[in-house]
Amino acid sequence: MRPAIIGAGAISALHLQALAGMDEIEAVAIADIDGDRAGEAARQHTIRAYTDYRLMVEKEKPDIVVITLPHHLHRDCAIWCAQSGCHILLEKPMAIRAEDCDEIIGVVNDRKVKLMVGHTQHYFAENIKAREMIESGQLGKLVMINDVRHVDYYADSRPGWFFETAKSGGGIAMNLGSHAIDRIQWLTDSKIAQVKASVSFYGTRGDIEGSLTAFVRTDRGLPCVISQSGYGGVNRDETELVFTEGMLKLRTGAGLWVGRSGEYRQVETIQNEPPFVLQYRDLLDCIRADAVPECSGEYSKSVVSAVQAIYASHRSGQEVALNQQQGGTLACSTAT
Ligand SMILES: NC(=O)c1ccc[n+]([C@@H]2O[C@H](COP(=O)([O-])OP(=O)(O)OC[C@H]3O[C@@H](n4cnc5c(N)ncnc54)[C@H](O)[C@@H]3O)[C@@H](O)[C@H]2O)c1
Repeated sequence: MRPAIIGAGAISALHLQALAGMDEIEAVAIADIDGDRAGEAARQHTIRAYTDYRLMVEKEKPDIVVITLPHHLHRDCAIWCAQSGCHILLEKPMAIRAEDCDEIIGVVNDRKVKLMVGHTQHYFAENIKAREMIESGQLGKLVMINDVRHVDYYADSRPGWFFETAKSGGGIAMNLGSHAIDRIQWLTDSKIAQVKASVSFYGTRGDIEGSLTAFVRTDRGLPCVISQSGYGGVNRDETELVFTEGMLKLRTGAGLWVGRSGEYRQVETIQNEPPFVLQYRDLLDCIRADAVPECSGEYSKSVVSAVQAIYASHRSGQEVALNQQQGGTLACSTAT
């Protein structure tokens, strides 16, 4: 398999690093409108550089394209690449609107290519272990989740487009909220069905929201709180899962702890391969077996729909219901 990368920004480095360590797949080219950036990545990995991704796809005829572009470009690029017959690994969030996801899904289905969205939460060892522990019932019934993320979202290193709603689709909720929503849905094998949320706009740059407080309920009736701040302070990425017979403290990328009898004990988890390598293995397996990826277009649309419900709830002050059976349609009349 010969993938080509579209977008030579921050996350493309992790994709190229993962690909460099794999035998059965080899990156051939990278495209970025910033020719220096594409050239530097190409030099590091001995691949070809382009400034126009369409030209790259036409010339290189890659089996797979890896789309790591700003969010507002995901739709058009994914549609064009699917029409060109490429399998697609599309970075999260799938697109900035659920309607855009529908358009991508339509073309992907027509052209019979595989689409996987880069919801990397599924490939971290401690997340996988937490999911197994939920399923096993060994801590009793899962009764709630508190998912907390604090970062310095306004750091100078963050590219400008993240701060423009027209390009990013939103701030911390669209970008990092996608991870929280995906994590909750995937860990509990359910979909977000109800959302009551509030966001705030006190950032130093752009027109995006810098914090999110959401009370969500899954379609299995599980209540969860998502709390995220981008205003700095002390970074935190912690998911607390509360059961009838104990707790789990999940720190994605850092570890998993069981809380029982007044103390936490770390659970052994082994990350045999980096999450990005596992993501590529999963994609290759799906292509070979002609199987639907776990992070399919439909699944990933449910994440985008939940983010849209967060914004709709903030605007209306109302709880928003999502009809995930109908692909995440906002069922509440106030949710426009
Ligand atoms: N899976 C994860 O954990 C994770 C982590 C970080 C970022 N991401 C996602 O990856 C994507 C990219 O994020 P990033 O941080 O790498 O952004 P970035 O700004 O660093 O990179 C985007 C690149 O796209 C290029 N670009 C813009 N328009 C283009 C065009 N028309 N043609 C070709 N290139 C173009 C830019 O020049 C830039 O180099 C986003 O969807 C983001 O949410 C995912």
